[in-house]
Amino acid sequence: MNDNFRFMCSACKAVYPKGTYGCKKKDGILQAIYWTEKVDSIGRIKKDNNPGIWKYEKMLPGVDNKVSYYEGNTPLIPSRFYAHEMGIDLYFKDETRNPTGSFKDRAATVMLSMEKTSGNKAIVTASSGNAAGAIALYSMLAKIRCFIFMFKPTREKLVHAMSFGPTIFNVASEHEGEVLDLTKEAAGEFGWSILTTTADANPFTIEGYKTVAYELYEQMQLPDSIVVPVGSGTLLVGIWKGLRELKKLGLIDRVPRFIGVQARGNNPIVQAYRQGAEEVKPIKSSGTIAGGLSLENPGLTGKETLKAIRQTRGTMIDVSDDEIMKAVFQLPRKEGIYAEPSGAVGVAALAELLRDEIFSKREKVVCVITGSGFKDITSISQGKGKLIEIKPRLTEVKKHLKTTG
Ligand SMILES: Cc1ncc(COP(=O)(O)O)c(C=O)c1O
Repeated sequence: MNDNFRFMCSACKAVYPKGTYGCKKKDGILQAIYWTEKVDSIGRIKKDNNPGIWKYEKMLPGVDNKVSYYEGNTPLIPSRFYAHEMGIDLYFKDETRNPTGSFKDRAATVMLSMEKTSGNKAIVTASSGNAAGAIALYSMLAKIRCFIFMFKPTREKLVHAMSFGPTIFNVASEHEGEVLDLTKEAAGEFGWSILTTTADANPFTIEGYKTVAYELYEQMQLPDSIVVPVGSGTLLVGIWKGLRELKKLGLIDRVPRFIGVQARGNNPIVQAYRQGAEEVKPIKSSGTIAGGLSLENPGLTGKETLKAIRQTRGTMIDVSDDEIMKAVFQLPRKEGIYAEPSGAVGVAALAELLRDEIFSKREKVVCVITGSGFKDITSISQGKGKLIEIKPRLTEVKKHLKTTG
């Protein structure tokens, strides 16, 4: 195994060896620090023949086994409709194209490669659905036993995760915190590694997510703003880390600003941002259609998210379920992207960001679409297309075309 990094606490800067999951003082998250020197092109840190995000191997933790399923390398799609309507230079980073339909595969490939390399035999995760599918697939590839505690998953997410053969406990609870506590208790009792996809639970998550920044650099150099859906904020913090690494490598000279978006029914980080607080207090969720963002206590990752927002002079905003569903329905018809509600909150926020003059004219904006609509069909099923039930006869088709046009 190549020991190419050490962990450092994002707050007190204490240094920890591999195998540590959190800072003893509990004041910040752990981040992998690599021995980097300046490079003249990104080619210097790449191995193009490696699968998936492992093409950036030199900036990822050293592993003996790369458990990859060709994750990442997602397209950056220029907007056809919103860009024109809003007068901004808008792109979508389409994370629905990952193997299990969400950005979580980027975290799963790093976490399971580490587990495989360490020789661990069983892992556990807590999830509302997307992490479950990702961790289940990569555990299957790694031949590691996988236990999942699920919190209010959609039927599609549950069935999809089950297909990879893990053991799933669907937990009857109204609060994700209870499910996370149960996961920790079970991990302690049975000796399972915790692979929950927040930076608080496992620092390798952000190592996977930061590759979004590396890909963006290759696809467009740098945008002005990056709009990211936020639950715990781990994805946002991961992309921020990737950009700071690119700066340290000498490839970029500025870090774009971050705009974090939460659902109004579950917005602890937005509340802390508005209060000018440095830490995020847990809330009681009033519920949202965006199930993937329903985390009542973002913990230290929430604190780190606030830091990313403030240091990049960005902002945190929230959107209502109505605004989210409008974006979910519009995205396929206007842009050809089928996203789940949690994945579409960034798009739902665009109109308000424009109204509040957060964006300037022709601003270069990347909006990250985090999860696929195929895994949340029930909430999307009131879509606006016409559905007509017919018998297999052309006369029926003609009759309906006459009446509906
Ligand atoms: C589709 C989707 N988007 C965004 C998020 C939020 O991610 P994070 O907790 O890293 O902020 C999740 C988390 O499960 C998700 O499933």
